[in-house]
Amino acid sequence: MNETSLKKKLSKLKLGGLRYFDSIGSTNDEALAWATAGAPDFSLVIADEQTQGRGRFDRKWFTPKGSGLALSLILRPPHSHLPYLSRTVGLAALSIADPCFKLGLTPRIKWPNDILLNSKKAAGILIETVWSGDKVDSLVIGMGVNVNKASVPPADMLQFPATSIEDELGEATPAREDILFDILGAFLHWCEKIDTDELIPTWEGILAFRGEQVQVAGQSPITGELLGLEPDGSLLLLDANNNSVIIRYGDVSLRPA
Ligand code: ATP
Ligand code: BTN
Repeated sequence: MNETSLKKKLSKLKLGGLRYFDSIGSTNDEALAWATAGAPDFSLVIADEQTQGRGRFDRKWFTPKGSGLALSLILRPPHSHLPYLSRTVGLAALSIADPCFKLGLTPRIKWPNDILLNSKKAAGILIETVWSGDKVDSLVIGMGVNVNKASVPPADMLQFPATSIEDELGEATPAREDILFDILGAFLHWCEKIDTDELIPTWEGILAFRGEQVQVAGQSPITGELLGLEPDGSLLLLDANNNSVIIRYGDVSLRPA
């Protein structure tokens, strides 16, 4: 992957701007700074390697050189989309899932922000907001996708098993640029549908552990049956007393019970 080949591959996509780095700390940090400085809508920061890749709550995200996708998209949501911004993590997850389906894989979304292949984590999403007073100026949507085997972290770094597209698909694995193109195409498609009735059922349809007992670890741990999603993308569980419980996005980790 290099800047020239990327620009050629992505030329049809009408990006707001593109910044490519052979190596960077975190593409989200670069995108946050660029967004604050006025980056156009749908600008992309992408790197071949991250040395300080971040997950949620400053957990480390492993992105060794030449093996995965580490990208951050800058979005400037129109006023009409503001009521639906809590769905953004779902549309980002669907944008990674769609190209996986196209490859014959069966991705599942481990709510809120992980994409599983064969019950192992193959991608994660980190969304950060740039505020202008109390208004959303822009969103930075960070995506890390394990494409080649070398992108999978050593087991001692993990609390949940990990995999890559290549681990699941073998030699049929496309080049990273091709997967990137499909992710961005799917992202544009789902962005336009953020305010429609289509997004939630599609997202819900590929949730990991649906209909199963799960544990939600976090500030208020809870066990229950995973029923589905609320219209805002919150998770709906049925607890042991048959009460509906809504879990909102936050520092929660989902596990099979
Ligand atoms: P978990 O992944 O245990 O459910 P989480 O989803 O709550 O945790 P996140 O902040 O979403 O945690 O993800 C960060 C975690 O992902 C790290 O703590 C690490 O265990 C794991 N991780 C880091 N890099 C990768 C990678 N390239 N592929 C898969 N998992 C990774
Ligand atoms: C997670 O599972 O916690 C989310 C991981 C998000 C990783 C991506 S890689 C590109 C972008 N830059 C970062 O530092 N993090 C996100």
